[in-house]
Amino acid sequence: MPKINIGIIGTGSIVNTYKKCIDELEGAQLVALYTKSRNRKESARKAFGVPVFSVMDEFLQNDIDLVCVCNESGLHGEAIKLAALAGKHVLSEKPLETTPEKIDEIIAICSSKNVKLGCTLQNRCSSDYKRVLEAVNSGKLGKLIMGNAHINWYRNESYYADSDWKGTFKFDGGAAFINQGIHTIDLLLHIMGPVASVFGKVSTLVHDIEGEDVGASILNFQNGAIGTITAGTALYPGYPERIEIYGEKGSILMEGGRIIAWNIMGASAPGIASGENNGSGAADPTAIGHQNHKSVIADMIEAILNDRRPMVDGAEARKAVAVITAIYESSKREKLVFI
Ligand SMILES: NC(=O)c1ccc[n+]([C@@H]2O[C@H](COP(=O)([O-])OP(=O)(O)OC[C@H]3O[C@@H](n4cnc5c(N)ncnc54)[C@H](O)[C@@H]3O)[C@@H](O)[C@H]2O)c1
Repeated sequence: MPKINIGIIGTGSIVNTYKKCIDELEGAQLVALYTKSRNRKESARKAFGVPVFSVMDEFLQNDIDLVCVCNESGLHGEAIKLAALAGKHVLSEKPLETTPEKIDEIIAICSSKNVKLGCTLQNRCSSDYKRVLEAVNSGKLGKLIMGNAHINWYRNESYYADSDWKGTFKFDGGAAFINQGIHTIDLLLHIMGPVASVFGKVSTLVHDIEGEDVGASILNFQNGAIGTITAGTALYPGYPERIEIYGEKGSILMEGGRIIAWNIMGASAPGIASGENNGSGAADPTAIGHQNHKSVIADMIEAILNDRRPMVDGAEARKAVAVITAIYESSKREKLVFI
């Protein structure tokens, strides 16, 4: 069977995860890399064993079916646009871009060039998460009444000091909510449904960065349920991210990607011990495993081969960014923001 040829934009830490996944996937092969920094070409070529380009046109002239966008978050849009205009399918790291308006532009360009657009929000692939979603969608919790997400993580000062983009408005879009919190916020929204309005307060209290290192928000969901989000990267030592879903008939809680409580009135709890652990980035960004990334790339390949939507397409990826940027706006204006 012919393989899907993959090119990657970016040569940062997450690219190691993609390389590992692509090597393990029978239907894919890495054929080229792009890095904006010329002095990184040689070390990247040695590390990844494929040609490395620092001129985008030369990179895109390769026989590439799928471009994986793994550079700084605020540069995703430009990279996606160029790849789509060259007729390549695109899988971008989260967030797809830093504002919903920029995401709308990306969606329009990919749609006009008839290329697939996917976003890596890999926690949707977790088997425990799928069980929670199935329980909610099949009505086991009844009417949803409250949904909470807590991403009370920790990053030390060098995490930001050693990076020229993390925690900046331009290239990260903010900090704790849009970079670290987005995965768990995406799951919360996927379970609870659309948000009508938010009230948020974010602050930078510990780190020397532009974006927030602590924040909290109240959510009003369109279905009438209420919710909360807390997130931070200054919350030592960093606790596993948590999701709490409450319905009129009971509740399910997840922590660190695993179900830790399943209490539904009149029903016995299924076994909740999960064999799967994809790691949590609560204190260490490199502690995140690669299995869920592998599922996302495999899904993207299937979407291309079977001409279907990827698991998280542009419209899906936009939802968490719209809520997060509304929380930022609410904090700035000290007002409830409608979505
Ligand atoms: N899905 C996830 O769980 C996950 C995890 C980590 C990162 N990400 C996303 O991936 C994207 C990239 O994040 P990252 O952690 O790989 O960032 P990174 O800082 O390691 O790399 C970002 C960019 O900087 C460049 N770079 C890195 N080190 C460099 C150096 N020494 N000299 C010159 N250039 C250098 C890289 O080429 C890359 O394009 C971001 O959008 C981030 O949100 C997602």
